[in-house]
Amino acid sequence: MIDEISRRKREMRRVAASISPSRDRGGRYRKVIVTGKGGVGKTTLTAILARLSHQAGRSVLAVDEDPQQNLGFSLGFPQEEAGNLLSLTKRFEYIKEKVGVSPGEGYGQAYILNPDVSDVVDRFGIELEPGLSLLVMGGVEQASSGCLCPENALLESVIRYIRVRDDEMIFLDTQAGLEHFGRAIAGGFGQAVIVAESSYNSLSVAADAARLAKQLQIAVIHLVINKCRNENDKVKGKKIIDPSLFNTIRFLPFDPLVWDTEPDISPLLTNQSPFMENVQLLHRDIMKFSTEL
Ligand SMILES: Nc1ncnc2c1ncn2[C@@H]1O[C@H](COP(=O)(O)OP(=O)(O)O)[C@@H](O)[C@H]1O
Ligand SMILES: [Mg+2]
Repeated sequence: MIDEISRRKREMRRVAASISPSRDRGGRYRKVIVTGKGGVGKTTLTAILARLSHQAGRSVLAVDEDPQQNLGFSLGFPQEEAGNLLSLTKRFEYIKEKVGVSPGEGYGQAYILNPDVSDVVDRFGIELEPGLSLLVMGGVEQASSGCLCPENALLESVIRYIRVRDDEMIFLDTQAGLEHFGRAIAGGFGQAVIVAESSYNSLSVAADAARLAKQLQIAVIHLVINKCRNENDKVKGKKIIDPSLFNTIRFLPFDPLVWDTEPDISPLLTNQSPFMENVQLLHRDIMKFSTEL
C-alpha cells in the first residue's frame, strides 16, 4: 500500500513537472519544431538544421512526425532499408505496454493518457552516426479530428515528455499544423521554425501559425520564406508579413541543387550557395537562442 502511494506520488510529480512552464528552462529552447504547409521545405530544412547542429558538435535527435516518414532519407538513411524504419505507431507491443491498449483494440476501453515514455529514444531511436539519432513517430491520420486512439495518446506523450539530454538539440519535423499536437507541444518546445513560400496564401497561413505558436507558449518564432525565385519574391514577402510576429525572418532562394539531390541533403552541406548561407544564418539564430535563454 505504501509502495502504491509512493508510486502514485512519483507519477503525480512527473506529470506536474511536465506541465510546469518553468520546467527545464534551458532545455526548452533546444527543442525546435518545424512547421508549415505541405511541400514548402520542412523536411529538407529539418534535415539540414539537424546536420548543421551535429557538425557544430552537438548531439542531435531528429524526430519525424510525418506519416510519409522521409526525414530519415533526407538525413541519408538508405532507401533500400526503408523497411527498418518502423514507426512508433506501428509498434503495437510498445503501445500496449505503455497505454494499456493496442491500436484498434477494445474500442471504448480505458487507457493511460499520460504514459511514461522516457525510454522511447533508447529503445527506438536509430543512431545514424554517433551523436545523431532519428526517431520515427509516424502520424495518426485522424488526429486532427480529436482521435482518442491509443497511438495518439502515445505520440502526444512522446512530444510532451521527450527530453533533451546534456547538450542535445531536438528537431521535430511535422506533417500537419501545430494544432495537431497543440497541448503536447505547449509542454516544451521553445523554438518554432515556420516555413512558407512567398505567396499571399502561404504567408497568411504562416502568420496564423505564428499566432498559434505564441498561444502555445513557444517563445522564439523564426519565419523562413523558402523557394524565392528572385528579388520580387522577397519584396512581395516583406510587404505581406507582419514582422512583429517573428523573432527572425530569412529568405531562402529556390536552388536547383536542392531539387536535384533530394531527398538526401548531404550534398548540400559542402556546397557554398546563397541557399546554404541563409540556412546557416538561420541555424546560427537557433543556436544563439538555444544557449542564451
Ligand atoms: N529552396 C529550395 N529550392 C529548390 N527546391 C526546394 C527548396 N526547398 C525545398 N525544395 C524541394 O521541395 C520539395 C518539398 O520539400 P520538402 O522538404 O519535402 O517539403 P515538406 O516537408 O514541407 O513537405 C522537395 O523536392 C525539396 O527538394
Ligand atoms: Mg515533409
